[in-house]
Amino acid sequence: MAPTDAPPTIGAAAPLVGHVTNPADQPDLRHNRAPVPDEIDAVDLPVTGELPEGMRGQFVRNGPNPLFEPIGRYSVLDGDGMLHSVTFDERGVSYRNRWIRSRGLLAEVAHGAAIYPGLGNVMEFPDRSLTGDAGPVKNPANTHVIEHGGRRLALWEGGLPTEVTAGLDTVGEHDFGGRLRGSMTAHPRLDPRTGEMFMFGYSLFQPYLTYHVVDPDGTLSHSVELDLPAPVMMHDMVMTEHHAVFLDSPYVFDLANLGNGPMVRWMPENGCRIGVMPRRGAADELRWFEIEPGHVQHFWSGWADGDRIEFHGCRYPAPDFGIDNTTPLDERSAKDLTARPARYRVDLAAGTAWWEPMDDLEGDFNRINPAYDGVAVRYLYMSGFTRHDRHLGDFDAVVRYDDLTGERTLWSAGPHGHVGESVFAADPAGTAEDDGWLLNAVYDDERDTTDLLVLDARDVSAGPVAAVHLPRRLPFGFHANWFPEEG
Ligand SMILES: [Fe+2]
Repeated sequence: MAPTDAPPTIGAAAPLVGHVTNPADQPDLRHNRAPVPDEIDAVDLPVTGELPEGMRGQFVRNGPNPLFEPIGRYSVLDGDGMLHSVTFDERGVSYRNRWIRSRGLLAEVAHGAAIYPGLGNVMEFPDRSLTGDAGPVKNPANTHVIEHGGRRLALWEGGLPTEVTAGLDTVGEHDFGGRLRGSMTAHPRLDPRTGEMFMFGYSLFQPYLTYHVVDPDGTLSHSVELDLPAPVMMHDMVMTEHHAVFLDSPYVFDLANLGNGPMVRWMPENGCRIGVMPRRGAADELRWFEIEPGHVQHFWSGWADGDRIEFHGCRYPAPDFGIDNTTPLDERSAKDLTARPARYRVDLAAGTAWWEPMDDLEGDFNRINPAYDGVAVRYLYMSGFTRHDRHLGDFDAVVRYDDLTGERTLWSAGPHGHVGESVFAADPAGTAEDDGWLLNAVYDDERDTTDLLVLDARDVSAGPVAAVHLPRRLPFGFHANWFPEEG
């Protein structure tokens, strides 16, 4: 749903042109991590294969794409958000990309160079005479894009959401009429049955975690400060029909050590807990359940079955996302990161929590048919690694699990293929959970091009049924969504 009244947008008429050449040869700017330099529109994109009948809507992917040469050490987490859209309508398939015009980026545009040091330079602060009202931290809005309450929001977990339009123009930061003070996760949970949105924000300072519920019309109507023993990096949460569920894993912001080592440190000695509370519960209704330490960046779905809560996620036994200003750049970028699918269960009556591995395959970027979030889900989609020469986020396979039969099927993109996140586009004529398609922007390092691949969600191993040839490569990015055509 798009807002009925078109909101004013920022700088829509002035295209931006990038300046990054990477003279310092920073690893996170090499190869397909290099940003694209401009904003373009293209229509009538060539398609190989057969696009599914009835697949009408817009695929939008967010990701880092720095406009200016970074100051000091650069991490992919720092880059200015850029939205790439691929639209399927009665005219065919078209492409557009736009930078998100954050206040920080606009201050840099006014200055003509980068002002903000990134996460790897956390003890350095930008020149306040240059940042103006953009503040000391840039909110690049580079992680995800969702739609709720008539607003499309680009998300970054360190700050407020940024409202954008379906045409990818920037409206500006959205604070829910002043009710959201602090940050918002990039992974809120949307209940397709009630229309509510469940979300949280973490902070390096107390309160470390604040939980919110947003009504279907976009009104933030419930906020609760939750008590955590330490400030942790929490990326996602779980929603059931009745509960909000949090994994308080000990991936801890090491404030005492800032500037002298990793900004976030795995501290299993702190313990690990799953928190469960009613969806609109009070802080004292939150119950904690101890579990073996492990970090989950992304969950699939969660659901309640009597006194049991079940959910799945990709579990890191010891996460390290390289937010570190002391490790040599090459070493950090090449760090082997392994997450594997895991099944979690909380027994509310017995007061216990438990997990078990689901599969040996490494992967992440978990997605489901979004109509099944909060209820028992059968089909789980993941981006996976079938080889071991790849780095964080550089997947090579589209994976599907049937959680009922335990069957895993996958499609490998081959030695030159780099797989992004699979987004589920429901078949409007479908009835089954897996009636739909997976859309995945796959980069080919031999041709230096990106295709948006369309796979049948029922038969991933058959490979793409269609490939939309994009007019340019899409740099490595984060999360995407499918916004079906209305009507
Ligand atoms: Fe994420």
